[in-house]
Amino acid sequence: MATYPHNALVRFETIAVHATEPDSQTGAVAPPIHLATTFTRASDLSLTGDFQYAREGGPTHALLETALARLDGGDAALVFASGMAAGLALLEGLASGDRVIVPDDAYYGIRVASRDFLAKWGIATDVVDMGDLANLERALARPARLVWLETPSNPLLKIVDLAGAIALAKKAGAITVVDNTFATPALQRPLDLGADVTLQASTKYLGGHSDVMGGALVFARRDALFDRVEHARHILGAVASPFASWLVLRGLRTLALRMERHAQNATAVAAALAQHAGVAAVHYPGLASHPGHAIAAKQMSAFGGMLSFRVRGGRDAAIAVVSKAKLFVRATSLGCVESLIEHRATSEGAGSTAPPELIRLSIGIEHPDDLIADLEQALTK
Ligand SMILES: Cc1ncc(COP(=O)(O)O)c(C=O)c1O
Repeated sequence: MATYPHNALVRFETIAVHATEPDSQTGAVAPPIHLATTFTRASDLSLTGDFQYAREGGPTHALLETALARLDGGDAALVFASGMAAGLALLEGLASGDRVIVPDDAYYGIRVASRDFLAKWGIATDVVDMGDLANLERALARPARLVWLETPSNPLLKIVDLAGAIALAKKAGAITVVDNTFATPALQRPLDLGADVTLQASTKYLGGHSDVMGGALVFARRDALFDRVEHARHILGAVASPFASWLVLRGLRTLALRMERHAQNATAVAAALAQHAGVAAVHYPGLASHPGHAIAAKQMSAFGGMLSFRVRGGRDAAIAVVSKAKLFVRATSLGCVESLIEHRATSEGAGSTAPPELIRLSIGIEHPDDLIADLEQALTK
């Protein structure tokens, strides 16, 4: 990994803007993209530089990994082709016979992966409602290798007390990974709370513009777990592309600013929806009525740009609202500058556990009044 030159810069916004430094060879202010798949050896067969073959990593990946580790306060990072590739590479670092505990509202891809793949690999998964840590403590009474945490969760925006859950897992000798995709390191810093690994679907807020797939793991320590996961990436091949890494690096530079605006807008939209007669419930941890509000306020510096809400009238009423949206873009995914609206059960498809009347919003950086006006017209019968 490249060393970060500005160790004196400590504040998140500054680190993010300076995620890459001017190229030392050319003076180019934006970083180069190294598309090379293979790297030379000298006549004595030693490698000329730090890299051998792009599936093992390369210069553009390394720039991004250095930036991500620094932003998250970790020791090392690995970048992958998608958020799922990152999560699965971590799980590939476990052994057959290991047991994993996942939250009941984990991102549906993780739930499907547990059902369709982990079981085949001999890894047992237990699903636990971690809103009450007593449930996690009970689940940890039997040996577990890894506790998967996701807060705020997708799509119900459930909150888990990170410090409490991490302490319980540590006591039980389990590794903790926090899927920090909704919050990003701009708003929530799980490694500072003792987590072992954070996961980012960089496809979302880190990239920020709906134009790059990527995933990342940041490790508190460059330890044996890191080595196993790096080996899995190298041999199983889920590495990020250089261009995707470059796009995420570009996204990082505006991450702090975008997250601030996403959170401000989501706060305004959540407040407006909570007042609306056509809305049965709003799931946003920034609302004082959210059951996880106090914990979210403790562990997040702002409440993020994601929210979901339940429409009165059930599935058909929710679908009618999504259909009528004009400014919100009807699409799945999240974390981009434009606001997105989806009927979550439709996006997840067969086997979805999303309530039929649930609409999920990814709040962008438009003017909040325009977003509220669009939702109000969509909710008008
Ligand atoms: C919370 C969360 N984690 C992980 C992922 C997986 O990311 P990707 O789609 O890049 O594989 C997603 C995707 O929506 C997500 O929302």
